[in-house]
Amino acid sequence: MKKKVFLMMMAALLTFSMTACGSDNSSPDEADTSKQPEQAEQSDQTDQSKPADSGTEVTNKDKPLVWFNRQPSNSSTGELDMAALTFNDNTYYVGFDANQGAELQGTMVKDYIEKNIDKIDRNGDGTIGYVLAIGDIGHNDSIARTRGVRKALGTGLDKDGNVNSEPIGTNTDGSAVAVQDGSIEVGGKTYVVRELASQEMKNSAGATWDAATAGNTIGTWSSSFGDQIDVVVSNNDGMGMSMFNAWSKDNKVPTFGYDANNDAVAAIAEGYGGTISQHADVQAYLTLRVLRNALDGVDIDTGIGTADEAGNVLSSDVYVYKEAERSYYALNVAVTSDNYQEFSDSTKVYEPVSKQLDASGHPVKKIWLDIYNAADNFLSSTYQPLLQNYDDLLNLEVDYIGGDGQTESNITNRLGNPGQYDAFAINMVKTDNAASYTSLLSQ
Ligand code: BGC
Repeated sequence: MKKKVFLMMMAALLTFSMTACGSDNSSPDEADTSKQPEQAEQSDQTDQSKPADSGTEVTNKDKPLVWFNRQPSNSSTGELDMAALTFNDNTYYVGFDANQGAELQGTMVKDYIEKNIDKIDRNGDGTIGYVLAIGDIGHNDSIARTRGVRKALGTGLDKDGNVNSEPIGTNTDGSAVAVQDGSIEVGGKTYVVRELASQEMKNSAGATWDAATAGNTIGTWSSSFGDQIDVVVSNNDGMGMSMFNAWSKDNKVPTFGYDANNDAVAAIAEGYGGTISQHADVQAYLTLRVLRNALDGVDIDTGIGTADEAGNVLSSDVYVYKEAERSYYALNVAVTSDNYQEFSDSTKVYEPVSKQLDASGHPVKKIWLDIYNAADNFLSSTYQPLLQNYDDLLNLEVDYIGGDGQTESNITNRLGNPGQYDAFAINMVKTDNAASYTSLLSQ
């Protein structure tokens, strides 16, 4: 008997809750299966009272989308993929100013050579030799860094109106066609500057920016060139530190990277030459903040150029926004022995944007976010910990998906149910592959 009453109560409850679920249009008979997705979407969008967790009600193609760290672009020409960058009205890119950073990196290396000219030329032959680890020949940030170093050291050669960024393999006698010998004049003496070798650090499985490959390669380079190598330069700290630990630290050869990862900054005390902070603290904030703003339906500049109600705001010396590119770019800072103590914790939130948002005005939303390669030093040791600090402050519940760095499908396979999320943050394996993601969101 008791059981029967219980079952009847359950049935009544079920009927009630089904009616309630379909009551967006306040007409009970709308709670049926005949409602087409299109109609469903329209009615949901006009329903201001819909609960904060009703993310599945917006069509996936209309949900906020941010690309970060790998800008949708043609990996051969660098041309931006504007279709991906304007996928919907709430689509943005967040990265950093690659050219400004590249110029800083080049200048940092050149300044170091000039300041240390009395001891830098290890074999005293009047030629400053350097080797260069390239991250990904099809990644515009990597290309910019290679160009920046070649430009500053005078080793760049023009190709189609820009400095050639191709790897040269080895260049023992200065005859490589993609670079030239540069020169530096210090204290009345002129030194030749030669790029002795450069290579894309890609492993056999296809992962780029590969630190282990760089660590092995410096072994090969040092046995070919020995004390002709006076400086080691890398497109990032992951590869830079791998070469430093494998060879340059012991041989006291200054090594320069990019990213200001914690281990690299700490290594400056042990002879690492320097690195560049791409203001990952600002980028990680922007990555999640643009999604937060779009989900809140407020002006996209809120908490960015314009203070939000909690007082979060960024000043114009740390980022730029280029509307035509739908892109936010953080600005870079050189980190050397002069200032490295200020950069000792790369995972610390940026103080001007560190204030908690109120959950009543900014209810919890679900985000799908991927990192193209879970083993990427910068993204895993600096960027993701920062994102994890900001997601709490912005009331975002983020699912972090780590890729293998080689195959896009390893990641896209895990975007099987976009309907479960309110917004997306995407870091592609290859900058050409934006459509692999947008096609899933358009289905
Ligand atoms: C970073 C690299 C990283 C790459 C991944 C760059 O911005 O400087 O360290 O490997 O992004 O896409």
